[in-house]
Amino acid sequence: MTKNDKGYKGVGMEGPIARWYATNTGRSPDRFAEQAVQVRERTAPGSEILEVAPGPGYLSIALARTGDYTVTGLDISETFVEIAREKAAEAGVEVDFRVGNASAMPFEDESFDFVVCCAAFKNFSDPVGALQEMHRVLRPGGRALINDLRRDVSKEAVDEDVDRMGLGGLSKAFTKYVLRSFLPRQAYTKSEFEGLVAQTRFRTCDVRLSPLSLDVDLRK
Ligand SMILES: C[S@@+](CC[C@H](N)C(=O)[O-])C[C@H]1O[C@@H](n2cnc3c(N)ncnc32)[C@H](O)[C@@H]1O
Repeated sequence: MTKNDKGYKGVGMEGPIARWYATNTGRSPDRFAEQAVQVRERTAPGSEILEVAPGPGYLSIALARTGDYTVTGLDISETFVEIAREKAAEAGVEVDFRVGNASAMPFEDESFDFVVCCAAFKNFSDPVGALQEMHRVLRPGGRALINDLRRDVSKEAVDEDVDRMGLGGLSKAFTKYVLRSFLPRQAYTKSEFEGLVAQTRFRTCDVRLSPLSLDVDLRK
């Protein structure tokens, strides 16, 4: 796996790209509601949650809205952190959105009970470093949940998912193109992911597959 100084593979998400992404993903609130349920099933009220790479912040905001958690978000994109702060203010919830790199987190050891990271892990230039940082900032017994596109996704699974997003013609065609041809090349298969986790100190790693993605449960 290669590393680079910018922290992400390929094109960074700043400016208009980040705003386009925020608008489009904001049209699928069900996706973030489902992710929030997955987190709630794994965390006790009162937990301190870190979302790594929250982008526009929809999941962090949904979690903060429950009133059950203290939520922090860390993203390398200044535009996304700005957007996420605006959206949290509009929603009237408190989330500590910060700029930073998943593989060099600005947090003390053992600061969080739970780490979640969705649709972003494949973008990291230093995936093992990011896993090691997740492990470092978790308290003993803490858990992490990583959800991302699987490398071996089929064209049919992509089409079905994008058709449900309710996007207009051009955005729909572009999103299908990116999810079918460009992003899978950066993503991991189940066994590749297990190989990355094996290089860290996580005690357990459980990877489940759906047609589109991998859900990875890790325990410190
Ligand atoms: C496709 S977006 C996903 C955003 C959000 N989690 C979601 O589900 O919609 C990928 C995110 O990863 C962030 N990112 C990429 N590399 C990063 C890194 N090294 N550290 C922190 N964030 C990173 C990008 O800025 C972007 O917000």
